[in-house]
Amino acid sequence: MSSSGEAELLHTFKGIPFTTRSSPELLKSLDTFDAREDDVLLVSYPKSGTHWLAGVITKLYTTQVTITSPIEFGDISRLEELNKLSSKRIIPTHLDYNMLPPNFKNKKCKMIYISRNPKDTAVSMFHYYRDNPNLPTVDTWTAFFDLFLKGNVVCGSWFDHFLSWAEHEDEKNILFLFYEDMKKDLPKVVKEITLFLSLNVSDNDIQDICKKSSFSEMKNDTEKENSDPSHTVCALTSNRKLIFRKGAVGDWKNYFTPKQNIRFQETFNEKMKLSKM
Ligand code: A3P
Repeated sequence: MSSSGEAELLHTFKGIPFTTRSSPELLKSLDTFDAREDDVLLVSYPKSGTHWLAGVITKLYTTQVTITSPIEFGDISRLEELNKLSSKRIIPTHLDYNMLPPNFKNKKCKMIYISRNPKDTAVSMFHYYRDNPNLPTVDTWTAFFDLFLKGNVVCGSWFDHFLSWAEHEDEKNILFLFYEDMKKDLPKVVKEITLFLSLNVSDNDIQDICKKSSFSEMKNDTEKENSDPSHTVCALTSNRKLIFRKGAVGDWKNYFTPKQNIRFQETFNEKMKLSKM
């Protein structure tokens, strides 16, 4: 990673690297954000399937809902914009639990956390670093692997992010989902989401929504839409075309060397040993 690129594109807030698309003033004022009881938060570490989940969720509502851009994206005017929104808000975020505006917690807003095998997340993020001009340059997979394992990437350590949320797994207003489960049986996961959000959606409609949310359908839709910036739910880009790469489980096997796999596994075991999940 070139150090000049890093200096220009990233800044650190409370020990976590953010891109300059999240202004320090905005991050500082998040604590004052006024949540509404019916807000739904869509939470993820980057590259975990956020757009997939967002695509599904927006199709479940028959009433008017707005999927906003991520709460940590933009400058200080962002909070005012969100305040003005009259419809129900679905708010994406990559924030770790400790940085989440306290109002969401106090008001027990519903939150859905989507997670993915961190090895696949790392590979997906590697490609994102390469393709996304808002992120620093990274030359090789080997270099990126080290950065990822150390948590020296945008949004910080995958382990810390996951653990900060997993500590709250027993809270009734938080639903944990896994990318791999969505790949395995999307209708089952969608049913779970409808129950969590108290939405009445027929099995037929669920099947239809799942068809429309396949990787190929979503990728095609994006190509037709011509990357409308208001359609991205990632604070790191407005270019939707960067999102739909491969959409597979296990791509890490094409990148990890046996040694890297052992190192990753050791770190995983060490970091996750206190997690029940
Ligand atoms: P890959 O880079 O492995 O292909 P996020 O939305 O959090 O940025 O995550 C992006 C990842 O989710 C990308 O992974 C992308 O291809 C994958 N993805 C997006 N839509 C998907 C879908 N409908 N089905 C499966 N994977 C999807």
